[in-house]
Amino acid sequence: METLSRSIFTLLSVTIFHAILPVTSSFPISPDFPAVFNFGDSNSDTGELSSGLGFRLQPSYGQSYFFKPPSSGRFCNGRLIVDFLMEAINRPYLRPYLDTVSTQSYRRGCNFAAGGSTIQKANAASISPFGLGVQVSQFVTFKSKVLQLLQQDEDLEKYLPSEYYFKNGLYMFDIGQNDLAGAFYNKTLDQVVGLIPTIIDIFQDGIKRLYAEGARNFWIHNTGPLGCIAQVVSLFGRDKSKLDELGCVSDHNQAAKLFNSQLHGLFRQLPQQYPDSHFTYVDIFSIKSDLILNHSNYGFDHSILVCCGTGGPPLNYNDQVNCGSTGKSSDGTIITARACNDSSKYVNWDGIHYTEAANRFVAQHIVSGRYSETALSWNL
Ligand SMILES: *[C@@H]1O[C@H](CO)[C@@H](O)[C@H](O)[C@H]1NC(C)=O
Ligand SMILES: *[C@@H]1O[C@H](CO)[C@@H](O)[C@H](O)[C@H]1NC(C)=O
Ligand SMILES: *[C@@H]1O[C@H](CO)[C@@H](O)[C@H](O)[C@H]1NC(C)=O
Repeated sequence: METLSRSIFTLLSVTIFHAILPVTSSFPISPDFPAVFNFGDSNSDTGELSSGLGFRLQPSYGQSYFFKPPSSGRFCNGRLIVDFLMEAINRPYLRPYLDTVSTQSYRRGCNFAAGGSTIQKANAASISPFGLGVQVSQFVTFKSKVLQLLQQDEDLEKYLPSEYYFKNGLYMFDIGQNDLAGAFYNKTLDQVVGLIPTIIDIFQDGIKRLYAEGARNFWIHNTGPLGCIAQVVSLFGRDKSKLDELGCVSDHNQAAKLFNSQLHGLFRQLPQQYPDSHFTYVDIFSIKSDLILNHSNYGFDHSILVCCGTGGPPLNYNDQVNCGSTGKSSDGTIITARACNDSSKYVNWDGIHYTEAANRFVAQHIVSGRYSETALSWNL
């Protein structure tokens, strides 16, 4: 943690496309941002889906850090990447928008990310009704209500973000994984790839609407190596010829790479379309691939094998029995998916999500600045 907070002051290696200003200390995750607003899926859900749909995760979730299920609501044994990033700038963890009963305030920001969410509009098969468009609409409602309340009572600034906070806040995104993962159930690789430009367009629409609301600082995570997730390996990697040298499903990773290259293309165009703004693109894919391929160099024993699962190696994953619950195996025996003894040795927590240890690794690499590019627009 100490290196994490120290390296916050390390300057980013900045790539400028159309800047007119010399770049000084433009490290984007900085304590200078008065507030943070986050949009995404389970990778950064701090309790939104469980609040919004009214369920509690099994107690195994949160067992390494938050302990009590209601205060976790995270699809992890502990903290997420976004939690470590908030720690790095000495901020409280982001409160979920739909977490109505809480001692936490919204002054420093709000989290709209919900597990299972997609960039595309939710459909009947979606886990989360809170697609990116809905999350942005929730933000618009949040902002207008907050500003109205502050007009009535200035004292509420102790709890709510003022106009200045909205204008100078950081708008973060980590979404897209579920669009790809969901598409593979019914589509070939070519069809999934054919869908990517539409997904990117819908993503841009979210940026556009937030820009119209006054957002000027954007921070975009690309998507991770989807094919390395145990759930995907168990469903799509039974035929070993589908796997790459990491033991990951090649088609899924190829789609993730193509998604990222189009997202990166968009990132390079954004400054021209949205003046007076600041965009950062973070290469999560490279960080996670490095962690998975080189896990033993980083103190991990297992990259794909699941910590909280059942069935034993090579995956310890059964898609009928979620982490912390009990169910029947295909031969009818009762099985329970229990957490491993030392989750810090595992990259994968429950077959879909990363462990706290893996999230810490990713956050440390983000904060190093070596995996980010920043583009500033004209007129900044
Ligand atoms: C896949 O297609 C089937 C039938 O066309 C549909 O019932 C199902 O919901 C689809 N699955 C997903 C994940 O979209
Ligand atoms: C694994 O580590 C080696 C040596 O540090 C590095 O060259 C390589 O890029 C890493 N692999 C990935 C996928 O990042
Ligand atoms: C945890 O450790 C105990 C004691 O060493 C051992 O009996 C048990 O099998 C381990 N559990 C798992 C899931 O590895």
